[in-house]
Amino acid sequence: MSTIQPHGGNLINRYQPETPYQHIKKEITLDATAISDLELIAIGAYSPLTGFLNQEDYQSVVHDIRLSDGTVWSLPITLPVNRETAEGLSVGEEVRLTYEGDTYGILQVSDIYTPIKQIEAEKVYKTNDNDHPGVKKLLDRPSVYVGGDITLVKRPLKKEFEAYHLDPSETRKTFSDLGWKTVVGFQTRNPVHRAHEYIQKTALETVDGLFLNPLVGETKLDDIPADVRMESYHVLLQNYYPSDRVFLAVFPAAMRYAGPREAIFHALVRKNYGCTHFIVGRDHAGVGNYYGTYEAQEIFSQFTADEIGITTLFFEHSFFCKKCEAMASSKTCPHTSEDHVILSGTKVRELLRNGDLPPNTFSRKEVVEVLIKGLRKHEEKERKGDSNEQTAQYNLAR
Ligand code: ADX
Repeated sequence: MSTIQPHGGNLINRYQPETPYQHIKKEITLDATAISDLELIAIGAYSPLTGFLNQEDYQSVVHDIRLSDGTVWSLPITLPVNRETAEGLSVGEEVRLTYEGDTYGILQVSDIYTPIKQIEAEKVYKTNDNDHPGVKKLLDRPSVYVGGDITLVKRPLKKEFEAYHLDPSETRKTFSDLGWKTVVGFQTRNPVHRAHEYIQKTALETVDGLFLNPLVGETKLDDIPADVRMESYHVLLQNYYPSDRVFLAVFPAAMRYAGPREAIFHALVRKNYGCTHFIVGRDHAGVGNYYGTYEAQEIFSQFTADEIGITTLFFEHSFFCKKCEAMASSKTCPHTSEDHVILSGTKVRELLRNGDLPPNTFSRKEVVEVLIKGLRKHEEKERKGDSNEQTAQYNLAR
């Protein structure tokens, strides 16, 4: 089995399908983020969490980036309910957790508390600007938090890419079966462009395997839909990666866009999945101009290596340099930006609108072809009214 310890020492398992719940009358309806958090807590991806944060842990995470026992934890994993639901709940009782009419879990209510969301926004997202997608989501969710341990009684249905949903216990076993002693985790919410490929392969030069672990939970509307991304990963892996050195599985969490705080969260979760190393590049989990280019790397210096437990691999902003005729970064290339192929999301969209492909030095042509085809399909659906997605705004490059 994988040698790296889960965060906090034990891989949490709170999936107990035999647990009776039919006698429990009260229920809390979960939103898409909460059902995904429920499952991720239960399968140990969020170890050492055993439930939604109680008030003491919540305050400690928001203010100190630690649980109340001192363990590093950066994002408040909370269960928001509206005031009316909260008034009907009492500490100590059990409540069913439901999603779209079905029961998926049981919550042992330990705390019912009202957060000051402006403070949570400032501390976790470093802004309370409602234009920030993570802040907007935080403010839009109901106003009272319910804390307590959970039990998962039923696994949410995986409608898409079922085979790529693996639990931390399974990925740990896979890495061990593959004989990988060191594994680098790669988080992404985007297609894998040349810069991503460059930092992945540079990391792979020094470890046994690469765990490509795209986030496929809720993202913003202008991010590329997960089904299109999955296709783009397949075509890239088939053509450009050694199959015995890369393992692909999805991370079904919601994206928070919390930059530095989310980089820590992403690293700790990948440790739970069995990774020994984790890549943090430029503006990890960032959005707009809310975070500095390397803030998501700098935040790790607030903690000791032991407290984080997974080795972070930091990368500079990378690009293709025409003079070097290679991928490079500000650390390795002596030339000026005129020689660097750096495309903004706007520029890539413009190219695609005009029927031009972004250069092969920015993104592999097989990937671009999949993206164009996939996005057209989504556009078609949207036109027919099957979807409310705003395909026109998909951000192909960020
Ligand atoms: S993220 O929100 O999941 O972080 P994205 O999928 O773009 O967004 O990034 C995945 C990882 O690649 C992150 O660690 C990010 O910092 C890194 N990254 C993205 N683009 C570059 C780049 N041009 N140079 C260096 N690192 C990058």
